[in-house]
Amino acid sequence: RMPIELDRARALSVARDAAREAAILLREGQRGELRVEHKGAVDLVTDYDRRSELRVIERLRAAFPDHRVVGEESGGHGGDGSDRPVWYVDPLDGTTNYAHRLPWYSVSLALELRGEAQVGLVLAPELGWEFAAVRGEGARLDGRPIRVSATAELRASLLGTGFPYDRSRFDNVDNVRAALRAAQSVRRIGSAALDLCMVAAGWLDGYWEFTLNPWDMAAGALMVQEAGGRLTSVGGSDYSATGGNVIATNGLIHDALAEIISYDVYEEQA
Ligand code: IPD
Ligand code: CA
Ligand code: CA
Repeated sequence: RMPIELDRARALSVARDAAREAAILLREGQRGELRVEHKGAVDLVTDYDRRSELRVIERLRAAFPDHRVVGEESGGHGGDGSDRPVWYVDPLDGTTNYAHRLPWYSVSLALELRGEAQVGLVLAPELGWEFAAVRGEGARLDGRPIRVSATAELRASLLGTGFPYDRSRFDNVDNVRAALRAAQSVRRIGSAALDLCMVAAGWLDGYWEFTLNPWDMAAGALMVQEAGGRLTSVGGSDYSATGGNVIATNGLIHDALAEIISYDVYEEQA
């Protein structure tokens, strides 16, 4: 088959422009009126999730008409059997924070080719951070190279995690208890994309989470890899953006963290 050529520098610059436009919209929403709806019992969506996604997708499609675009809010989530490059778009990662006007949220864009992220961009509009990574070329925060931490002991580690929206069968609390006992402390700040970027920047030494989607993970995971960190799935198999869960660390504490994290669902009610 024909090799697919990707101009990754151009992809990054298009992603950056699209995310910056989305950021302007999102900042307006934070200062004005928001329409908040429930997608599930806990899971929220605002009109700005949708507006941000429409803007990003419009920009990506205009620049790359033959790429596939998978956006959280607009469906088209199943593959189409082709090996076209695919964009994963989380137009607002941290919607719960956003709806509460907590300024910790992001826009996350990743470009994948045959299951491998090539470009990742995570922009935090209120925090003024722009994380960017290109496969093989490192990860950057606002243009400056970043690197995972050098913390070698789990007991000295600051960890991040998240809680699933659907807590009916699994709530991650046993893992948090185990991590609190084994590590320095645990944070839950509310944007998976930024959690991964914080590992890449060396601000967190490790992070794990379950029930994630590719648009939550793909960009941040590339950031971790390019910053010298390590990724696996819970249970030890290779990380994949579609694998649903992730353990991301500086590498040094990976095995020790992986050892205490498990997916224990509640017993089915009789
Ligand atoms: C959520 C955030 C949160 C994580 C959830 C995600 P959303 O994304 O990343 O930190 O714990 O699992 O679904 O819904 O705000 O885009
Ligand atoms: Ca998300
Ligand atoms: Ca989202």
